[in-house]
Amino acid sequence: MRVPLLDLSEQYRALSKEVEAATREVLSSQRFILGPKLAEFEKAAAEYCGAPHAIGVSSGTDALLAVLMALEIGIGDAVITTDYSFFATGGCIARVGATPVFIDIDPDTYNISATALRRYIDKNCHVVEHGLVNENHQLIRALVPAHLFGLCCDMSEMLAISREHNLILIEDAAQAIGAEFPLGRAPGRAGTMGDAGCFSFYPSKNLGAAGDAGLVVCRNEQFAKRLRVCRQHGMEARYQHQFIGGNFRLDELQAAILNVKLPRLDGWSAARREAAQFYTEEFKRAGLEKNIKLPVEPYAQSGLRNHHIYHQYVIRSPRRDALREHLGKREIETAIYYPLALHEQPCFEYLGYKVGDFPAAERAARESLALPIYPEIPREAQQYVVNCIAKFFG
Ligand SMILES: Cc1ncc(COP(=O)(O)O)c(C=O)c1O
Repeated sequence: MRVPLLDLSEQYRALSKEVEAATREVLSSQRFILGPKLAEFEKAAAEYCGAPHAIGVSSGTDALLAVLMALEIGIGDAVITTDYSFFATGGCIARVGATPVFIDIDPDTYNISATALRRYIDKNCHVVEHGLVNENHQLIRALVPAHLFGLCCDMSEMLAISREHNLILIEDAAQAIGAEFPLGRAPGRAGTMGDAGCFSFYPSKNLGAAGDAGLVVCRNEQFAKRLRVCRQHGMEARYQHQFIGGNFRLDELQAAILNVKLPRLDGWSAARREAAQFYTEEFKRAGLEKNIKLPVEPYAQSGLRNHHIYHQYVIRSPRRDALREHLGKREIETAIYYPLALHEQPCFEYLGYKVGDFPAAERAARESLALPIYPEIPREAQQYVVNCIAKFFG
């Protein structure tokens, strides 16, 4: 049986009439940039996320970049982030000229470790009047945790640390739209707990466009205005550029498609969660817990529906590469997110990190394996995956 990592064809079949009508409408209007479809999407996305402001941008990467640029974070600044994420999380920090400071992850959740972060601050930083300065005399301007695989990181800790040290809190929520965190009485939604939240609508995401698209959400009205200017090359009045921004606009065709899909998002995320539950139960039933580490659900008892949205279902094994090969031979597609921790990337060599600096992230890079998951994945396909893994360890 062939089991793809992701199959979007069934989703498209169900939506094709609506998607095609929406795109035809845009084509007929010949309005492609900053039109009514984007305005409609921004309103709906702000409501969905529970954020006062939502600004459509051209990708998740550009969401991060626009936020950093709008904050004038750059040369001489440092920004703290996780060592284990998609490249853009760290790459954008370097792209604006700031220094990324990587922090090890929690080995269970794959998200930034609050303990490691506090340790870094205690050991390497000193407090000055307006914030924190590191051992390289750089002012630490921001903290960028990523909610990896659809699970929020410990936002109570991220908020406490950022408030304590006057850090701007930018959530990389590219993989976590709709994911919730038990934050006091009111649940916190991914992207809305910090100062800004960045989302990606890359086609494989839980909410995927038909190309590249992204979003920033924020609470502060002035900052939202600045982001809108930033996504148009820092231009407020026509051809008057207040500051340097970029072409970070989300186009009408993508917005029209996202408008069709957004109302279905919670249903898709619930279906992913059910598929994840099936995997977990079947792995346990097959006695595989001793062989593979299963995903954790730290907020499952919180009463929150979207305590995990399973953008990915990631297992871990020291025999990962052999297991992957075994599954590949049986036509089961898997993926490695990510084969290198950020400090191991050749382009970050100049930062001077070395092997062993972040053991949990390094281990995750060597051992993690993403299994096929998508809302419509058939249970027989999942059972086949479980059986093939059982045979490998058999
Ligand atoms: C954690 C994370 N951050 C940022 C991005 C960048 O998003 P995009 O691919 O839309 O530029 C992604 C997307 O893959 C991601 O997974």
